Amino acid sequence: MSKNRDHDYLYINEKKYLTDPKYTTTQFENLLKEISFGKKQESLWDIGCSNGSLLNYLVKKFPNSKLYGSDVIKESLEVAKKNTHSSIEYFFDDITKEKTLSLECDVLISVGVFQIYEEIEKILNQYISRVKPKGYIFIQGPLNKYGVDVLIKYRDNRNTKTEEIDQIGWNLWSVEYLENLFDKIKEIENYEFIPIHFPKDLTVEHDHKDTLRSWTVNLDGENKFLNGLFLQDHYFIKLKIDKSS
Ligand SMILES: C[S@@+](CC[C@H](N)C(=O)[O-])C[C@H]1O[C@@H](n2cnc3c(N)ncnc32)[C@H](O)[C@@H]1O
Repeated sequence: MSKNRDHDYLYINEKKYLTDPKYTTTQFENLLKEISFGKKQESLWDIGCSNGSLLNYLVKKFPNSKLYGSDVIKESLEVAKKNTHSSIEYFFDDITKEKTLSLECDVLISVGVFQIYEEIEKILNQYISRVKPKGYIFIQGPLNKYGVDVLIKYRDNRNTKTEEIDQIGWNLWSVEYLENLFDKIKEIENYEFIPIHFPKDLTVEHDHKDTLRSWTVNLDGENKFLNGLFLQDHYFIKLKIDKSS
């Protein structure tokens, strides 16, 4: 677990998404239906699942599928076990490390995790090791669409525990760089970057006590998320994996 990610602890008790799912959570249902999940693919693993709110939404939509969630914060896993459907299995797993379980799933989902780390190629290989020989990986988060890769280190002066500029986790990888990287990884059969357009009536207020928490702004008629670090362009990344080639 990264000691430089104080913000991850704030997601643990955010129970509102257990009953009122995020817009992106609802979009996963469509993405999964497009690949016939629930018919051809049976198992799904949410990497960095936090309190399990995404899985708790998906379990109702795909009741016949087997769902797993992992995280590196043990308190998150405890909250998830307590508050979500009993058929979902939770366990500790660090995506920066070699897996310790033999589990491979048809589909991996990972939201807000990819951008925490700098060794992006290593993490991608770890994702690939956790998916079945023919499967899918869905990654979601903000990306840079201008060809610029940005590594961010910050201090949130209102919430700092150390007084140092030591917080990480909001890196911005460019679509251009990721395309080049995906082209080089032989297990990635194809990929798609799907820009997320948030509905105009989705509004999230700025929480001045937690300026890292994103809020919505209207920019030239588009509804965007912004936080104390940057204006965000969100994407789903869909990777089709074939390890036999
Ligand atoms: C930004 S939060 C997103 C939580 C959740 N996926 C969501 O969208 O609400 C990132 C999550 O990834 C987890 N995480 C951070 N590093 C991880 C790692 N190396 N392996 C697995 N999970 C990790 C954090 O503990 C946290 O729960």
